[in-house]
Amino acid sequence: MRAFRGRTGDTLRFPTGDHTVETIRVETSGGPREVTYLSYTHIPYVADPVDTKYQSLDVKVPVEVDGTAVSAGDAPIVLVNSVGGFLSVNNLEKSMRGPGGEDSVGARHGELALAAGYVVVWPGCRGRDNRASDGTFYGKAPAGIVDLKAAVRYLRHNKGIVPGNVEWIISTGCSAGGGLSALLGASGNSPLYEPYLEEIGAARTEDRIYACGCYSPIIDLDHADIAYEWMHGPTPRNQTGEPVDQELSGELKALFGEYQASLGLQGRGGFGALTAENYDRYLLEYYLIPAASRYLGALPDEKRSEYLAEHQWVMWDGDRAAFSFADYVAYAGRYKGIPAFDDFDLSLAEPSLFGDETIEARHFTDFSLRKTTGDPKAEVSADVKVLAALMNPMHFVLHDNPGCAPHWWLRRGTAETGISQTAIVNLATGLENRGKHVDARFFWEAAHCIDEEAEGFIAWIGDVTGFSRATGQNPSSRNSRGKRQ
Ligand code: DHB
Repeated sequence: MRAFRGRTGDTLRFPTGDHTVETIRVETSGGPREVTYLSYTHIPYVADPVDTKYQSLDVKVPVEVDGTAVSAGDAPIVLVNSVGGFLSVNNLEKSMRGPGGEDSVGARHGELALAAGYVVVWPGCRGRDNRASDGTFYGKAPAGIVDLKAAVRYLRHNKGIVPGNVEWIISTGCSAGGGLSALLGASGNSPLYEPYLEEIGAARTEDRIYACGCYSPIIDLDHADIAYEWMHGPTPRNQTGEPVDQELSGELKALFGEYQASLGLQGRGGFGALTAENYDRYLLEYYLIPAASRYLGALPDEKRSEYLAEHQWVMWDGDRAAFSFADYVAYAGRYKGIPAFDDFDLSLAEPSLFGDETIEARHFTDFSLRKTTGDPKAEVSADVKVLAALMNPMHFVLHDNPGCAPHWWLRRGTAETGISQTAIVNLATGLENRGKHVDARFFWEAAHCIDEEAEGFIAWIGDVTGFSRATGQNPSSRNSRGKRQ
């Protein structure tokens, strides 16, 4: 029997006394805040780690904001994952940062969360790049999500010992990290990960979370190629000015209609079923036009006139923007090649994610496997199909997983073309259709992983938990509402 079952000799007990005291200055729209916090670093969160450089976390607990004591004992716990590119996160090197460094969306959420009186947790996790000295890979799918679940279990296992309310764990991440955040939220308590969690000695408790922030999430990988051609098929690549192979693009795009129909998603406001035929209209009406309208509405008159003069395809009636989907897509461009995810050369992040201990990268779609083997009937192996499901939040949303998080905050920019917009909107719609509380919107003209209302996310956490109302705490979010509404 493992030691962590009991409190005595519990190897997974949070080390309450083992901290330093640090102070940071946090810029907020209400002015700078000086936050003093307890810093616990590099705490292994599993009993049988593969590598504690990755399977460890940091905890930061605010104790004073601008000289006033705050009590984080029952505060929300914001779990910031800094994963990018489905790579590992080394808890020794990157704990406050992530791929974007100090300015990353995760770092900003972390410091604003501290200023709002929330507990902040930075987990490391394994990733597709992890390789032992004998050449064995040890972080391929599903290692990253298994580790994040183990981190959640560690916190819940330490209920009443670790500062913060373990029933209010809110995950956030961007890009691949946004995808993992969505997966963590959607797959809560799923028994499918149990053998993997058992293997690393994760605490035997629940891994559901309360709320989920997902920025520019890279999700639904096994359908991302077909959705990408649906959205960006004929658009010339930004890098070359040339369109990709249009025959291939047409073949992929043709597969999207059946897939989209199979999801059975219903649009908002009586829109009806979301299909390949009407999805352009849905994106325009519920995401793109509202984003452009907020953006233009917030510009000073002179700047708005300049913008409209430079973007003749955008109309403005004084209140609402109007444009065609085709004009918008042509303007946004096309970042990726073809196939955009499961590329024939196996050189992208996604085939690498689906490698195994000895194989660096594998195809995870029948389409790419067939094209590269020349066998029109080839199918990816059953274990790769299972891994694709274990990495796909849509799998858990569509199956109405009972442990799915109830609250969701979804954001992406309209200037990014790394994944079809249908991916995040299918996620939002699937969650809405199952009665989840979803706040989903796009930021007009924003690039990948840009968060234009970080304080809005922090305030939303205070709202959905009720923590702000109960304590009056949430200093960072003063004056943060009303921006680009
Ligand atoms: C990331 C971006 C991508 O376009 C992708 O396919 C996978 C990961 C990232 O930035 O994390």
